[in-house]
This record gives sequence, C-alpha cells and structure tokens, in this order.
Amino acid sequence: MTDYRIEPMQLEDVPVVCALETAAGMSTLGEPFFRKKLADPTAIMLVARAPHVIALFSSWVIVDELEIDNVVVTPSHQRQGIVASLLTEALRQAIARGAQSAVLEVRASNAPAQRLYESFGFLAAGRRRDYYRDPKEDAVIMRYVCQTNDAHT
Ligand SMILES: CC(C)(COP(=O)(O)OP(=O)(O)OC[C@H]1O[C@@H](n2cnc3c(N)ncnc32)[C@H](O)[C@@H]1OP(=O)(O)O)[C@@H](O)C(=O)NCCC(=O)NCCS
Repeated sequence: MTDYRIEPMQLEDVPVVCALETAAGMSTLGEPFFRKKLADPTAIMLVARAPHVIALFSSWVIVDELEIDNVVVTPSHQRQGIVASLLTEALRQAIARGAQSAVLEVRASNAPAQRLYESFGFLAAGRRRDYYRDPKEDAVIMRYVCQTNDAHT
C-alpha cells in the first residue's frame, strides 16, 4: 500500500494536476481554471502526495452544498482508498463550513466512480442528456445529504 498524505493543493501542483487529468483520459479543466480556483476562498482543493502528487480533488462550497468538479487518482494507485480519503477530508471541511449536501456529475458509463460515491451514500438524483463531449454521453447527477453524525467525517 502507498504511504501518502492528504494536503491542500498548491499553485506549483497545477501542471501535474492537469497532467493527471489528461492521463486519466479526462478533459482537463486547464491550468488557468485551477490557478483561479486556488485563489477562491469557497474552493476545497486537495491532493494526495507520495511524496509527488498521485491524486487530486477539486470542489467548492456554494452556499450550503459541496460541488465536486473533478477527482482523479493515477492508475497505478487506484483501489487503495486514496480517493475515499480525499472525499472524506473534503466532506469534513465542507461540513465545517456549513455544507448540508454534496453533488457531482459523473459519466453514465463510469461505474467505478459511481460505486465509489455510492459507497459514501451518494444517490443518483437525475441525468443530464449528452452533457459530456468526446465521447458524447449523459451525466448522472449524484447527491449526498450530509448527516449530523456523518460516518465518514
Ligand atoms: C474512480 C476513481 C476516482 C476511484 O478512486 P480510488 O482511489 O481508486 O477509489 P478507492 O480506492 O478510494 O475506492 C473506494 C471504494 O469505491 C469503490 N470503487 C473504487 N474503484 C472501483 C472499481 N474500479 N470498481 C468497483 N468499485 C470501485 C469501491 O467500493 C471502493 O471500496 P473497496 O476498494 O473497499 O471495495 C479512480 O478509479 C479514478 O481516478 N478514475 C479515473 C478518473 C475518474 O473516473 N474520476 C471520477 C470523475 S467523477
């Protein structure tokens, strides 16, 4: 198992974060997006370091909801609980800021990610037709209602 630490994302992490997204076959949100977001006090931006960056978590708290826009772990470190740790930490920070729920969109074909979110108690809450491009695909909207005694926090 990998020895890693969950830490806030730093400006100098941005190039490797974008490279992780591309390597995972995802369209990257781009370096300007991450640089801008790192300056946004509503954002919760985390990485896992081992000691180099092996995973990223990008989100923000909008009013009382954590909106998760991207989560990636490098393929060689998948299925070690790393993204579960990132999600646990993001939910902890979001709840501390007053979040009562969390929401995300995921490709309809992305069963591993859907299993991950379901394991936290996220439920499918709707579908956005043809939301994704390259390839075109529906998004499943998944939502989680934070619990007072949240088992993951
Ligand atoms: C989906 C992804 C984020 C999961 O990250 P991970 O660190 O490997 O997940 P974890 O090890 O924390 O898994 C936690 C739980 O999620 C579920 N899960 C994760 N990967 C799974 C898989 N490939 N198949 C089935 N269930 C899976 C399991 O319930 C797992 O618990 P278990 O290992 O005790 O059974 C990772 O595979 C990834 O980066 N994929 C490419 C990018 C992506 O799809 N991002 C999501 C965008 S919405």
